[in-house]
Amino acid sequence: MLEKFPRYPLTFGPTHIEKLERLSAYLGGKVELYAKREDCNSGLAFGGNKLRKLEYIIPDAIASNADTLVSIGGVQSNHTRMIAAVAAKIGMKCHLVQESWVPHEDAVYDRVGNILLSRIMGADVRLVNDGFDIGIRESWRRAIEEVRAKGGKPYPIPAGASVHKFGGLGYVGFAEEVRAQEKELGFAFDYIVVCTVTGSTHAGMLAGFAADGRARRVIGIDASFTPARTKAQVLEIARNTAILVELGQEIVEDHIVLIEDYAHPAYGVPSEGTKAAIRLAARLEGMITDPVYEGKSMQGMIDLVKRGYFPEGSKILYAHLGGAPALNGYAYAFRNG
Ligand SMILES: Cc1ncc(COP(=O)(O)O)c(C=O)c1O
Repeated sequence: MLEKFPRYPLTFGPTHIEKLERLSAYLGGKVELYAKREDCNSGLAFGGNKLRKLEYIIPDAIASNADTLVSIGGVQSNHTRMIAAVAAKIGMKCHLVQESWVPHEDAVYDRVGNILLSRIMGADVRLVNDGFDIGIRESWRRAIEEVRAKGGKPYPIPAGASVHKFGGLGYVGFAEEVRAQEKELGFAFDYIVVCTVTGSTHAGMLAGFAADGRARRVIGIDASFTPARTKAQVLEIARNTAILVELGQEIVEDHIVLIEDYAHPAYGVPSEGTKAAIRLAARLEGMITDPVYEGKSMQGMIDLVKRGYFPEGSKILYAHLGGAPALNGYAYAFRNG
């Protein structure tokens, strides 16, 4: 589905699928849980889901003769860390707007984890006092203008690399990769669980899995706490992506499964249930998830298994999209383990 699009390789190749034996058994053994380790997909600054998206965006950035990648996220954004890493790797400058998306407890929240790594990689990091919003932001437009005013040539990449014409392509590739891996494994997954915020990961999967009739088998777990906006953004990106890849069918709202129950109390703030899920995955599988994204999708998957949402015998693929560096900003939440 992606042959006609130029791709700049940023990842190691197909990501590993591992069975979560102990977590499956702990939850009663009626379903089989697997994880696809997108969090281990690259040597670039700890990797994660943004790299698959950026592989299809960077050729456009290079072709535009830009010299500066300009992007935006929260203070502990994984996405901006990945932009800083990619800019370093391809020899561009990097200008990052880090908004105050999260009410945090740790005094060093803006010094550690993702933002620390971005600073080390040489990004021009700007802290801005605006709250959470997945849309196109004024602070980002100002940053683009600032780069221009200084004689630079900016290449703008929106939050999460989502609302970009090629933002959904990377996760179409994920679906194709899963299909190839299913052939080797000798079975197909019944469900794919994914954390959804800015939307292009879920949207790309929708376009990719719609090709074999599995769009509604992609179970999005909202971590934005603004699910209506997230759902609308998923739909828009999935529609555009379906047209780009000539899917031959329209993506409609009914294709989107977005479960809203685990994002509380706010974006970036873990509930007791989220923290419990993070501990469980860590203690049974040695698998690290974070309080902003994967902790919430892990919590969602665990709870859905417990509630019998997945029929007995289901094989469920948890997309682990990365995000562990943010844990450094949550030392207070885990001060007692
Ligand atoms: C670790 C991690 N998981 C999940 C997501 C959600 O992906 P998306 O923004 O494409 O919905 C993000 C980015 O926002 C992320 O950094």
